[in-house]
Amino acid sequence: MSSPIHINSDARGWTHEGSRAKNEGKVLAFHETLPDYNKTPLHSLPDVARELGLGHVLVKDESNRFGLPAFKILGASWAMYRAVGWHLGIPVAEGQISIAELGAKARKAAVEIVTATEGNCGRAIARMGKYMGIPVRVWVPSFMPEATRELIRGEGAEVTVIDGSYDDLIPIISEEAEDKDTILILDVSFEGFTDVPKYFVQGYGTMLAEADKQILQATGEKAATHAVVPCGAGSVAEAVTAHYKAPGRESRAAILSVEPTGAACLQASLKAGQSVTVQTQDTIMNGLNCGTLSTTAWPVLKAGIDVSVVISDLESHAAVKDLTANRISAGPCGGATLAALKKVCSDADTKGYLGLDGSSIVVLYCTEGSREYPVPT
Ligand SMILES: Cc1ncc(COP(=O)(O)O)c(C=O)c1O
Repeated sequence: MSSPIHINSDARGWTHEGSRAKNEGKVLAFHETLPDYNKTPLHSLPDVARELGLGHVLVKDESNRFGLPAFKILGASWAMYRAVGWHLGIPVAEGQISIAELGAKARKAAVEIVTATEGNCGRAIARMGKYMGIPVRVWVPSFMPEATRELIRGEGAEVTVIDGSYDDLIPIISEEAEDKDTILILDVSFEGFTDVPKYFVQGYGTMLAEADKQILQATGEKAATHAVVPCGAGSVAEAVTAHYKAPGRESRAAILSVEPTGAACLQASLKAGQSVTVQTQDTIMNGLNCGTLSTTAWPVLKAGIDVSVVISDLESHAAVKDLTANRISAGPCGGATLAALKKVCSDADTKGYLGLDGSSIVVLYCTEGSREYPVPT
């Protein structure tokens, strides 16, 4: 078996070229206008920090974002707002009009939304459809549990199941979106479809802007030195990488990505030096079950991810139990970040390479709250 830890030494001195700060401000202002906006908490795990020989281990807890159990609605809401505005020819880039007004105009124009999902993203898009009063059709792979499908239907969306993987859904929904009033909303980019996924990445800026302030408060004004982020198709990892390696940012952080053994397309791509597709296998980390990276995420991840870690379902499950013991509600994708940190800290070479020591401030992006899943044995 190949090593579960891959060091990408080219990433060390790299700086992202885009400017995030301006987007983060306006996207946060947009999110504050949505029903049920809440800032998610940041928790400190002093016992885990002591055990691993680190200064601080902090958990950005996305278990309740707009009442949903994952971070995805941050990206889905901004992406859907921007895409509907563009479709109707209404300027929305600065958050000029409310979602209610935009929704009314979309209904008049008989706009419909189509998407594909492994879980959280589809539910978030369905929730936005409910806020805006426009119909949403969600295609899902057969590995998705019936309970998750029911949650998406509960938001008022129509759910269609296909016997195939997430990657198999893309051609189906692309064809559906050829209808002139159907808009494709997806967090994965591919040739000819890049704008909407970019808006998802911008949307995640709210989580990062909140975390920056909370980390300073938790540490007595010190910034994060390391960030750990789960990777499915790569959009949230892109947002995290671009944020901590933004030009002009005083305090850069090293970025660690984590993927499941059965869907480690980022690690395979980093090893190959080009974006490659992997054959996926079932995992409890459903949101990370992607075989191909988003085309716009790949160049940023290739240049900016310092260490890529692959973990098993058992390791993710053990980390979920650790977080639960610390009174943090985490699902397998969220728990994956703690599992990755533990794995890296048990490998002296990688720990040394990353400079993980008593002065380190590590933030784990715990992207989903507790949910049911088949317990691995
Ligand atoms: C809970 C959770 N965490 C992380 C991810 C990975 O996000 P991305 O596909 O942007 O890499 C997903 C994707 O759906 C998810 O649902």
